[in-house]
Amino acid sequence: MERFSCATNIISGDGAVRELEKLGFSRLMVVADPFFVKNGTAARVAGFAPVSEIFDRVAPDPSVELAAQGVARVKEFKPDAIVALGGGSAMDCAKAMLYFSGSEAKLVAIPTTSGSGSEVTDFAILTHKDVKHPLVDGRLRPDIAILDGQLLTAMPKGLIADAGFDILCHAVEAYAATGASPITDALAQSAFAESFAALPASYAGNTAVRLKIHLAATMAGMAFTQAGLGLCHAMAHALGGMFHIPHGRLNAILLPAVIGANARGAGEKYARLARFSGLGGSAEVMGVRNLKNALIRLRRELGMPQDLQQAGVAPAMVWHKSKEIVQAVLADPCCRTNPVLVEDFMVRRILEEVTGRG
Ligand SMILES: NC(=O)c1ccc[n+]([C@@H]2O[C@H](COP(=O)([O-])OP(=O)(O)OC[C@H]3O[C@@H](n4cnc5c(N)ncnc54)[C@H](O)[C@@H]3O)[C@@H](O)[C@H]2O)c1
Ligand SMILES: [Fe+2]
Repeated sequence: MERFSCATNIISGDGAVRELEKLGFSRLMVVADPFFVKNGTAARVAGFAPVSEIFDRVAPDPSVELAAQGVARVKEFKPDAIVALGGGSAMDCAKAMLYFSGSEAKLVAIPTTSGSGSEVTDFAILTHKDVKHPLVDGRLRPDIAILDGQLLTAMPKGLIADAGFDILCHAVEAYAATGASPITDALAQSAFAESFAALPASYAGNTAVRLKIHLAATMAGMAFTQAGLGLCHAMAHALGGMFHIPHGRLNAILLPAVIGANARGAGEKYARLARFSGLGGSAEVMGVRNLKNALIRLRRELGMPQDLQQAGVAPAMVWHKSKEIVQAVLADPCCRTNPVLVEDFMVRRILEEVTGRG
């Protein structure tokens, strides 16, 4: 039996953030990324309701302690809407604040990066003692997502690349996941093709393509929250908690190797995705190779590290912690929807490839 639900109302367009005022909330708790606190956007958003408070302590990869501080503020302030203004980190922090406070407030997500898809997902990732814990629950899915291209004009190149590879990875993993359906496939393949084609222009400074990539991030989020993810995300969670490399950058390093490792079970899907995206490959083996090589080429074009060493993590550090890494990967819920059963040897093989030993 396949199920697909679209619980989030999505409002999109340049200047869409102003629509928040029309939603008629009376007490807003704005959970804001520091970049938007500094440039005044958080205050502007807070002004869309008669009473509001800004929670301005969001930091990348929100910790359980940070979420607990936010929960205390929600319990005291009693908002009727919690508005997340920022990337995956601000959105996940706001989700955790709503979830653990037991508040009945509506959750409004205003993503300012084009990547995590958290604005439409049932996921929130919290970090505790160097371990990233994915929470998965239907109550974490935002009620409203506002996609405003005008919030994306100042994104630095590195963020465009990192978050962009998160979209590509969500799309590839959702497309090949065991929970994929015709509806999630349609969303995942469009998200992949659109972002793959537009990322170089966005990276080069073309702001006109950014809303398109923003929508692709949301589509990839809609796909993976229903279809599931896979080994790439399980490894990115394990390595991200330990080595503090941005999530999308880790996905960029890992994804080509994961495609190689999963090809025995997902080759047909990977080849179909390559053909849909104009990368060719009539034979399955060629399609898989084209997809993998195209991602490696794009990674280079977007100025990203090619392996963990280039991302600042020496191979010896990885091998020193390899037992812990393998354990964390196998315990990650994302493995459950990977197209092939994840085993110890696969994780080690991928670690060899991304540390340059392979
Ligand atoms: N909940 C989910 O479904 C889901 C899915 C994937 C990833 N994640 C999580 O999301 C987090 C990553 O999120 P992210 O990639 O969106 O980055 P982020 O939210 O961590 O932000 C990264 C940096 O970009 C800055 N920034 C954000 N928007 C900006 C803008 N428009 N202009 C300039 N600077 C801006 C922030 O200040 C921050 O320094 C990770 O913790 C990851 O685990 C969650
Ligand atoms: Fe992700």
